Amino acid sequence: MESITCCAASGEKTLDKAYWDAQYQSNTIGWDLGEVSPPIKRYIDTLSDKNIRILIPGCGNTYEAEYLLKRGFKNITVIDFAPTLVENLKHKFAGNGNIKIVLGDFFEHQGQYDLIIEQTFFCALPPVMRQKYVWKMHQLLTDEGKLSGLLFDRTFEVSPPFGGSKQEYLQLFKDAFDFLKMDLCPDSAKPRANSELFMELRKNSQNKVVLYEFEGIWCSGSVNTVTHKLAEIEGVLNVNMSSNFTELLIVSKNKIPLEQLQKEIAYDVTYKIKPVA
Ligand SMILES: C[S@@+](CC[C@H](N)C(=O)[O-])C[C@H]1O[C@@H](n2cnc3c(N)ncnc32)[C@H](O)[C@@H]1O
Repeated sequence: MESITCCAASGEKTLDKAYWDAQYQSNTIGWDLGEVSPPIKRYIDTLSDKNIRILIPGCGNTYEAEYLLKRGFKNITVIDFAPTLVENLKHKFAGNGNIKIVLGDFFEHQGQYDLIIEQTFFCALPPVMRQKYVWKMHQLLTDEGKLSGLLFDRTFEVSPPFGGSKQEYLQLFKDAFDFLKMDLCPDSAKPRANSELFMELRKNSQNKVVLYEFEGIWCSGSVNTVTHKLAEIEGVLNVNMSSNFTELLIVSKNKIPLEQLQKEIAYDVTYKIKPVA
């Protein structure tokens, strides 16, 4: 298999906008397929309503948006926080009223979309941000909105990209989304053959999805106790702690009062929890 290493950085590097912008400036864009990813192309071909609001986060050179435009979609937004890239995109799509190009941080973006397309954005984020990704996607989607696209079903020695597995994703998105599809792709681009899952997730708008800042855990041993205690609260469906123990995603049938969460973790006075604004 060809290398699909994203770029030459170490996982310890800060993956901020300066980092990504430098990759575009030096044209070190090993992740760029140069064309719309085949499974996403196939998926777009199944969509009939050309007026749906579509978002592509961490869009890069966004061959997906180009293909959507070609197919007549009229309400596309792409967002990326690398200024060099976004400047190029503004030239490339100048005068096209069917696409909006946003320079900004996805996690600060506001809007409502019927469809969000995932294409090597999730895997570019430090894994500690995965709970935040689920929360933000849930917020940005309309009640029946979908998150569709590709996730890696493998790990990498050099990151980014940061990989994962079907089992991990099923646990991560559980109850915040309904799983319409999470299957190995038969038609990935050659360098990614047999290593991508196609996901089609529908927002579960019945359930509450809240992200909390968590303080006081320093080792993985304490995570299980905390998550089990919180999962036992009536109405709680899924509890997921970030890998650096600072963020906690809680999915529940009804709003859980903060005092109730605090009471459950009060057995350790150093534990503190508060919702992310
Ligand atoms: C691996 S690249 C993928 C680009 C494109 N999706 C593709 O497949 O070619 C990841 C992209 O995400 C962008 N990115 C990373 N974190 C971001 C954030 N928080 N907000 C917006 N863009 C972000 C980077 O600037 C980069 O363009």
